[in-house]
Amino acid sequence: MWIHAECFFSLFFLASAALSGANIEEFDDHWQKKAEEALARSRAAYHPDPEAITNNFNKAVHLAVSQARNSTRRALRSVRGNKFKGTCVATNPIDRCWRCQKNWMNHRKKLATCAKGFGRNAMGGKNGELYVVTDPSDDDLVNPRYGTLRWGAIQDRPLWIVFARDMIIRLSEELMINSNKTIDGRGANVHIAFGAQITIQFVHNVIIHGIHIHDIKPGSGGIIRDSPQHFGIRTKSDGDGISIYGSSDIWIDHCSLRNCADGLIDAIEGSTAITISNCHLTHHNDVLLFGASDSNENDSIMQVTVAFNHFGKGLVQRMPRCRWGFFHIVNNDYTQWLMYAIGGSQHPTIISQGNRFVAPRMLFSKEV
Ligand SMILES: *[C@@H]1O[C@H](CO)[C@@H](O)[C@H](O)[C@H]1NC(C)=O
Ligand SMILES: *[C@@H]1O[C@H](CO)[C@@H](O)[C@H](O)[C@H]1NC(C)=O
Ligand SMILES: *[C@@H]1O[C@H](CO)[C@@H](O)[C@H](O)[C@H]1NC(C)=O
Repeated sequence: MWIHAECFFSLFFLASAALSGANIEEFDDHWQKKAEEALARSRAAYHPDPEAITNNFNKAVHLAVSQARNSTRRALRSVRGNKFKGTCVATNPIDRCWRCQKNWMNHRKKLATCAKGFGRNAMGGKNGELYVVTDPSDDDLVNPRYGTLRWGAIQDRPLWIVFARDMIIRLSEELMINSNKTIDGRGANVHIAFGAQITIQFVHNVIIHGIHIHDIKPGSGGIIRDSPQHFGIRTKSDGDGISIYGSSDIWIDHCSLRNCADGLIDAIEGSTAITISNCHLTHHNDVLLFGASDSNENDSIMQVTVAFNHFGKGLVQRMPRCRWGFFHIVNNDYTQWLMYAIGGSQHPTIISQGNRFVAPRMLFSKEV
């Protein structure tokens, strides 16, 4: 009897552990299946020899810098203070892949081959059609209108999502991103702001590029569609900028993020194969959280590259704050923090290379 009761208890405990923080009211067959598939994907995306990836990354940086030294570095100096009129410069290997190519707009999907580091396999919607967001509204969470960002994000098939014009999108509740999607803000000034967060949960292969994400608030939850076949009740969302939950092959590039209610980008619950690059982060307390729990050993497979980001004004801590996994923090520029820049617990491996730290004028903040 006792054994039986204990089994029952631990099953119950596991089920509720899986629920906690997932914002899923009912862990129905749909979510159960997605969670299992996502875990299998994460395990497959995990690289048993992470230093092979960091070495490759570093080689690419050296090559880009040596090529840039002959030409573009000089150009960068001569256009200082006039950056919109000067020669295009791309001094890192990710940007060099697409950025200064005049016809990049006609070859948007080239970007899908440009990721480096642990998120290198993220190709987003490369195999899909272009979908153009024409409508910034977000007033139907169950049957989103064609033309809205939400309609594109929840589709099952791959899509390369672009924007017809500048817009501010205020999400009424969490935006559930499905697998095989690129959200490509290039060519428009797109803000996801003043509403709920972007959620990447139990999916794979997502690129978010060139979007401003700020002033994100907790959502109260409700009935939300996450794919053409499924909707369900979601509980309160935290108000992260981007929440990555049990997902793999994710690349966040050239986004600017600030002033959200919880983290700017959180990656938790067995998420892996992630690159966060070329982003500008400002005005925030808990900046990047990789692994939320000291007791969730599932986060041991977490592998994340944080590269070429500018951690700017008004940041306090967690740039990033790491647990369990393997983290390559490389060539970032830290110009301000109040408490600390990089931190970790639960024996994470953190390789910090080529970062520039400009410590604030307080003695305790200069501690390494
Ligand atoms: C840079 O210029 C030097 C001298 O002109 C040349 O030897 C070298 O091959 C160049 N490097 C690259 C990467 O183009
Ligand atoms: C995403 O695309 C990959 C590669 O084409 C495919 O194997 C996978 O099944 C797709 N995922 C979903 C959920 O459709
Ligand atoms: C770890 O993953 C397993 C398999 O999906 C799951 O059952 C378990 O709840 C996870 N552990 C935690 C603490 O979330």
